Amino acid sequence: MSPEPAAASPSRTAVGRETVRVDGPLKVSGAARYTADFHFPDMLYAVPVCATIASGTIAAIDTKAAEAMPGVRKIYTRDTIGKFYRVPASGGGIIDERRPPFEDDTIRYYGQYVALVVADTFEQAIAAAHRVKTSYRAAAFDVSTALSPEETPKVKSRRGDPNAAFDAAAVKIDHVYNTPIETHSSIELHASVATFDGSHFTLYETTQAVGNFRDVLAQMLGVPKENVRVVTEYLGTGFGGKLWPWPQSLLAVAAARDLRKPVKLVMTRQMTFESAGHRPHTRQRVRLGATAEGKLVSLRHDYAYSRAPLSSYAENCGESSGFMYSTPNLSVSEAFATRNVGVPTSMRGPGAVPGLYALESAIDELAVALKMDPVALRLHNEPAIDESKNIPFSSRHLKECLATGAETFGWSRRTPAVGSMRENGAVLGWGMAACTWMAARWEAQVSVMFNDDGTLRVASGTQDIGTGTYTVLAQMAAELAGVDVGKIKVLIGDSSLPPGPISGGSMATASLVPAVAQATREAIRNLIAAARESDSHFANVPVDRLAFHEGRVHRKDQPPGEGRQFEEVLASARLGHVEGRGKSEGTFRNKNPTVSTHSFGAHFVEVAWQPEIARLRINRTVSVIDGGRIVNPLTARNQIEGAVTMGIGMALFEETHYDHRHGMPINSNLADYIMATHADTPPMEVIFLDYPDTHLNEMGVRGIGEIGLAGVAAAITNAVYHATGVRVRDLPVKIEDLLASSVA
Ligand code: MOS
Repeated sequence: MSPEPAAASPSRTAVGRETVRVDGPLKVSGAARYTADFHFPDMLYAVPVCATIASGTIAAIDTKAAEAMPGVRKIYTRDTIGKFYRVPASGGGIIDERRPPFEDDTIRYYGQYVALVVADTFEQAIAAAHRVKTSYRAAAFDVSTALSPEETPKVKSRRGDPNAAFDAAAVKIDHVYNTPIETHSSIELHASVATFDGSHFTLYETTQAVGNFRDVLAQMLGVPKENVRVVTEYLGTGFGGKLWPWPQSLLAVAAARDLRKPVKLVMTRQMTFESAGHRPHTRQRVRLGATAEGKLVSLRHDYAYSRAPLSSYAENCGESSGFMYSTPNLSVSEAFATRNVGVPTSMRGPGAVPGLYALESAIDELAVALKMDPVALRLHNEPAIDESKNIPFSSRHLKECLATGAETFGWSRRTPAVGSMRENGAVLGWGMAACTWMAARWEAQVSVMFNDDGTLRVASGTQDIGTGTYTVLAQMAAELAGVDVGKIKVLIGDSSLPPGPISGGSMATASLVPAVAQATREAIRNLIAAARESDSHFANVPVDRLAFHEGRVHRKDQPPGEGRQFEEVLASARLGHVEGRGKSEGTFRNKNPTVSTHSFGAHFVEVAWQPEIARLRINRTVSVIDGGRIVNPLTARNQIEGAVTMGIGMALFEETHYDHRHGMPINSNLADYIMATHADTPPMEVIFLDYPDTHLNEMGVRGIGEIGLAGVAAAITNAVYHATGVRVRDLPVKIEDLLASSVA
C-alpha cells in the first residue's frame, strides 16, 4: 500500500490508493435506494403465474375465482397483455430470451410465465396468483444431465495436427469433466418498478446495463428510445444474472402501460431459478499429449453445454484454451444439447470458468502422470506469444504469478505423494491452478463538469453492481483533475446519462478510463477558456498563457498558488458549470488486434481432509492476480475474495437440481441451493502484481472480478486429489466421492 501523499498534492495518487467506498455511508445507513425500495403513490403490485409443466401447451386459463379476490385490479393473459415486439437479432439490444412473454401458448420450460396478477398489495396479488387455474396439454420434455450433442461439433480453434500428435505422444491424458447448472444467487432479488405517463416509460430496474435495458424495452414496446428511461441507482449484485432483461420486467411495464399506474414486480427466489438465467451444464473432454520431459505437443478441448429452446446462448468453454499454454497442435470444438430449462446466460466468468476447471484439472493430471511438479509443468509450457492469434500478449506475467504464489504459499515444502502431508490429525492437500480472463473495452461516454459549488461531477450511463464503480470513477476523475476524491460527485445508473459501458465481462473500469480522461481534459480546456472571460485576474490573458493544476487555473508565468480555484473562476465568469465530454471506443470491433489482452493469475489452495469423519475443509488460499494497474486495492481485493468464495461454492456446493418428473428446479431457494458461507471461507491472501497494461488505456487498467473465480475450482479439486487420491471430474465435490479414498 502506498503511503499517504504529501499534503501539498492530495490527489495525485488517487488512482492506486486504498480508498473506502464513496457510497459506503449510504449503504450502511440504508439510504442507498435499491430497486425494490422505490415507492410511488397508487402503486400496484404484480405477481406472475408460472407454468407447472416443462413442455406442452396451455389448454385454458381460468381467472374467474382469482379476479373476484380482494384488491385484484386485473389479471393479464396472452389476450389482454397488449402488444409486444421482438428484438432484432442485431442492433436492437441484447436479450437472451428473445421470445416476448405470452407470445404463444407453447410452454418450453417449467416456470414460464402464463399470466400476471395485479393487485393493490403484494399479498393480495400473490394470493390471487395461486387461484388462477391453468390447464395444460403436457408433452415430453428433457432435463437430463447427460449431454449428447445434437449437431456435429463446431471447430472453434485449430492448429497443426492435434490427432496425430496426440496419438504419437509419450504421455497422454484423456478425461471428461462435467460442471452442473449453477444459478446466480444475488442477495437482491430481481425487481422492476414501472411507471408510464401516457408517453414516457420510467423503469426502476435491477440491471447491470441500464442503456441496453432501455434499448431492449424500446424495441419490445415499439416506442422510440427517447420515451424510455431505465434507472439502477444501486444493485445488490448480479453475477451476469442481471446483465440482460428477463421477461417479468416487460410484464410490469405492460401492466403500467395499461393501468396508467406505477407497478412493482419483485421476483421470488424460486422464479429466479426458473426464468432468470443460469450457467449451463457443461461436459468437456480434454486430451493432452506431452513429451516425456513435459512439453505439450497436443491439446484437444471438446466441449458441449446445455441450452434452452429458442436460446442461442453459447458457453464458450474453450475461450482460453488456445493461448493458455504453448503447443504446436491444438483443436477446440463446441457443441450443445437442448434441454427444457429456462434460458441460460452468462454467469461470472462465462465460458472460461467451467473451461479452466477442465483444462487446469487436466494439466494437473498430466503433472501427476509425468511425476512433475504442477507449477514447474506450467512454467515449462509458457508460450512466448498468443499462439492462437500469432500476436504478442499486451502484458502477460503468468510466470511471476506462479512464482510469487508458490513462494507466498510455501509450495516448496509440498511433498507430492498423495496423502503424504498431515497436520493436527488431518490430511492436507495442496493444489494450484492458473487462470486467465479477457481484457477489453466496451464503448463508453462520460461527462465531466466543474461546478461553481466546488464539486466535480462525473456522469455516465454505467452502473455500480457492487464492485465499486462509484468509487473508482471518483478516483479516476480526482487523479485527472487533481481534485480531492471527496469533491467528486459520481452520477451513474441512469440511461438518460451519456451512454456508459455495461457492467459485464470485468470491463467497465477499463472502458471508462479513456472517456473520463478525454472528458476531464475537455472540461479543463473549457474552464481555462472561461477564465479569460472572468472579470478579474485572468481577463484577456491569452489561453496559451494559462494552465490548470490541481483544481486551480493559473498564469503560466506565475506559480499555481497564485491562481484561482475553479469555483472562483466560474463565479467570476458567472458560470454555473463548464462541461467536457469524452468517449472511449470499444475494442471488440477491431478484428485485427496487434496484441492479445488478457488478465492472468494463479490460485494456491490448502484443503484439510479428515477421513474418519468424512470432512473436507478449505484451510487457506493464496491468489496472485496480474490484472493491470489496480485502481483501488481495497475494492480489488474485495472482488478477488468474493470470487474465491464463489469458487469454493462452485467446487464444493453449487448445483441446480431438476425434478425429472416435472422439470422443476427443486432446490430453488437459499436453504437447498448450497453456497459458500463465511464458515466455509478460509483466510484468503490476495496479491496484485500491478503491471499497467497501457495497450488498453492510458492508466493501464484491465479488469478484475471474474479472473478471481477462474481456476479456483480446479485448484481445489487438485488439492483434493493430493489429499485423497480421488480425482473429482464432476463438480461439485461430493463427500461420497471422497469415501473411495484409501488415504486413512
Ligand atoms: Mo458478468 S457474467 O460479465 O456479469
